[in-house]
Amino acid sequence: MQSTNDIRRSFLDHFAAAGHREVPSAPLVPHNDPTLMFVNAGMVPFKNVFTGLETPPAQTATSSQKCVRAGGKHNDLDNVGYTARHHTFFEMLGNFSFGDYFKDQAIEHAWTLLTKEWGIDPARLTATVYHTDDEAFDLWRKIAGLPEERIIRIPTSDNFWAMGDDGPCGPCSEIFYDHGEHIAGGPPGSPDEDGDRFVEVWNLVFMQHEQRSGEIIGDLPNKNIDTGMGLERIAAVMQGEHDNYDTDTFKTLIGASEGLLDVKAEGERQASHRVIADHLRSTSFLIADGVLPSNEGRGYVLRRIMRRAMRHAHILGAKDPLMHRLVPTLVAEMGQAFPELARGQPLIEETLEREETRFRQTLENGLRLLDEATGTMGSGDQLDGEVAFKLYDTYGFPYDLTEDALRDRGIGVDRAGFDAAMARQKEAARAAWKGSGQAADSQVWFDIAEREGATEFTGYTATSGEGRVVALVKDGAEIDRAEAGDEVVVLTNQTPFYGESGGQQGDTGTITGADGLSAEVTDTGKPLGRLHTQSAKIASGALAVGDVVHLQVDAERRDRVKANHSATHLLHAALRNRLGGHVTQKGSLVAEDRLRFDFSHPEPLSDADIAAIEADVNAEIRANERVTTRLMTPDDAVEAGALALFGEKYGDEVRVLSMGRAGGDGRNYSVELCGGTHVNATGDIQLLRIISESAVSSGVRRIEALTGDAARQWLTGREDALKSAASALRTTPEEVADRIGALLAERKALEKELADAKKQLALSGAASGAGSAEATADETINGVTFSGQVLEGLNPKDLRGLLDEAKKRIGSGVAAAIAVNDGRAALAVGVTDDLTATYDAVALVRAGVEALGGKGGGGRADMAQGGGPDGGQADKALDAVRAVLAG
Ligand code: ALA
Repeated sequence: MQSTNDIRRSFLDHFAAAGHREVPSAPLVPHNDPTLMFVNAGMVPFKNVFTGLETPPAQTATSSQKCVRAGGKHNDLDNVGYTARHHTFFEMLGNFSFGDYFKDQAIEHAWTLLTKEWGIDPARLTATVYHTDDEAFDLWRKIAGLPEERIIRIPTSDNFWAMGDDGPCGPCSEIFYDHGEHIAGGPPGSPDEDGDRFVEVWNLVFMQHEQRSGEIIGDLPNKNIDTGMGLERIAAVMQGEHDNYDTDTFKTLIGASEGLLDVKAEGERQASHRVIADHLRSTSFLIADGVLPSNEGRGYVLRRIMRRAMRHAHILGAKDPLMHRLVPTLVAEMGQAFPELARGQPLIEETLEREETRFRQTLENGLRLLDEATGTMGSGDQLDGEVAFKLYDTYGFPYDLTEDALRDRGIGVDRAGFDAAMARQKEAARAAWKGSGQAADSQVWFDIAEREGATEFTGYTATSGEGRVVALVKDGAEIDRAEAGDEVVVLTNQTPFYGESGGQQGDTGTITGADGLSAEVTDTGKPLGRLHTQSAKIASGALAVGDVVHLQVDAERRDRVKANHSATHLLHAALRNRLGGHVTQKGSLVAEDRLRFDFSHPEPLSDADIAAIEADVNAEIRANERVTTRLMTPDDAVEAGALALFGEKYGDEVRVLSMGRAGGDGRNYSVELCGGTHVNATGDIQLLRIISESAVSSGVRRIEALTGDAARQWLTGREDALKSAASALRTTPEEVADRIGALLAERKALEKELADAKKQLALSGAASGAGSAEATADETINGVTFSGQVLEGLNPKDLRGLLDEAKKRIGSGVAAAIAVNDGRAALAVGVTDDLTATYDAVALVRAGVEALGGKGGGGRADMAQGGGPDGGQADKALDAVRAVLAG
């Protein structure tokens, strides 16, 4: 028997041998198509190739594409587990021709592979063609030799395939396998076609048209081939089974849940085991592709699938969380074909266990309420919509889970009542919001959020992608259309643009689209915490609500912002390690060119602290450990050691960022709650340089720092400055400090020498010339000898010595001297001891100082000193002293 893994391999090998490029499955979240929730067919990743927007990876290609159908158009969720062929997750085997071969080779390949290589009995195969497609009809006769009664013309949309209302499409030809008479049902197109006997296994699409809003708008540039074969179905055929759940992969998965629960997949238990096996696949693959449970968008679909599986685990009597314990079996079964599954295993297990632990608590309460409400009901009855809403609102029961829980008993749910209760709650929220005094201009955001729900941020893993415009806002009001020259706020259902929040500045970039639309995104926002906005200026073309546009973030700028954001986390941890646990974040700014981090700490940081903190952060950067993100409840996050901003309001679930090396307790260097974008590994930060430390307010310090190339440039700038200093000093950078030290010492010595020389000059002048008794013309005022002199350039420190000399010379009397330097004057007055009872040197100085435009002056009765700014008034100052002596 060929295993499912063998069948996948031989399919790909067949087409590779025929020159097709083997392309790995694209992730389940389509970044190239905002109209799709999940990839739901093998051709989705090639949509833009078919329409001519992108060049093909090769002329022909083959893949086994992961698909999820569990929301939106193809909602299979309710049926899964109860039928033979419904899945939320399946693989689509496909071969693609991008303008290369067309119908004949597509049919030839299919027939050869099925009947010759795989040995399927041709007598069991039937083909359908679109009713007008004579060419395909003839080819089936010619190539496969099928009798005419087994080439069935179908006039309905069953034989016209389209990926959605918009996109490539074309007539198709389906191949059916006849499982045999023992199963009820007729060939396609017959009255019994809904029976299970004839199963479609392969769909060959002759992709040649493009449609918009369900109308064909023209031909594609090329005639293409897109085929899709459900791996699970063909595995059933080749393994001689009628039911997909009886193939090897499902048997292994179901065997694992049977073993863990010790409950056989028989009777009414069978569906629950099947639900668990199927949902294990979809949830694990979604988590591996970056979807995490949430209350919005894709995350909510994931949560609904998870919870449905968990309810079935509960039905089977699971006492503890089950799903995560099945992951190793899934990885063993499918991990080789899909390495992302093995890579994501820890995250998958952790996410499933956490969700199931949480959900089990509410499940029991919810199911009890449901039992009470339906205790007396029987088949055909309907559960009150209010009760279904209460289960949703209070117990987190998605509507379809309630429906599912009651289906075995034949009880329905009043959907209209549920919707009405939901609408009432929204109205109450609106009224409460209106009363909360929010600014009127945010009314528009509230209206949009209520109508559209949250917009989805895809930018944790991507910097470009497509989005459908859900609203345009200009001057605070919604508009339908904006044109070149307009500045508008654009909201798309999903966007890679980070909305400015949490200190991280928003992304910039471009929005482009059909008919020459080009707009520059200069700013972003995140109103109400749920909407992501882009402020854009339209350079050319026009933009209307409903348009699908391409959003491109400036990725290099984003990388710089990411490095700065991750660096703040490392810095925060380093500060706490060095300074203590009292350090908490008080604010931060994460910009493209720098980062700023404010934190509580009572005193300035020493140079040694700063150096040590910087060294610690750089050691973590060099260790280049992967940065990991996990989703947790706020309580679990704090338990895991995450630094939370206390007083901040967190949602049900928070992102927890761990970075840096693990310590002895197994915790990473930094663990923080954060919704921002971060580097993949710490080495991406390259370098951290602290450039300033200062006070913000009492008890709050601020560090500014640079990372990556900005840090390098800053260091280069410093070095250049040092080099020019060295060259001015005619030395090397290493010797600059010594050289400056030597120059300062030299300067000090010279100053002293100069001062001494001036003093000498003044003293000798006083003794023998300008300052001598004759020159100063000692005078007699009121019977007292007075000597007064003005000396330019004398160091004021030398005034005392000068006056002591003068006092000695005159024996009895008063001496005054003024030193004038740079326009300023210092005045000293000395009184010989015999006269201090009559004349106070302090009073004499004060009189002189006033004339010099100064104030005060002090000392003792025999010697006092003061000064003033008006050196030009020196003579007047001496006159003032004379006047006091004259009485
Ligand atoms: N795209 C085609 C399908 O999904 C093959 O059936």
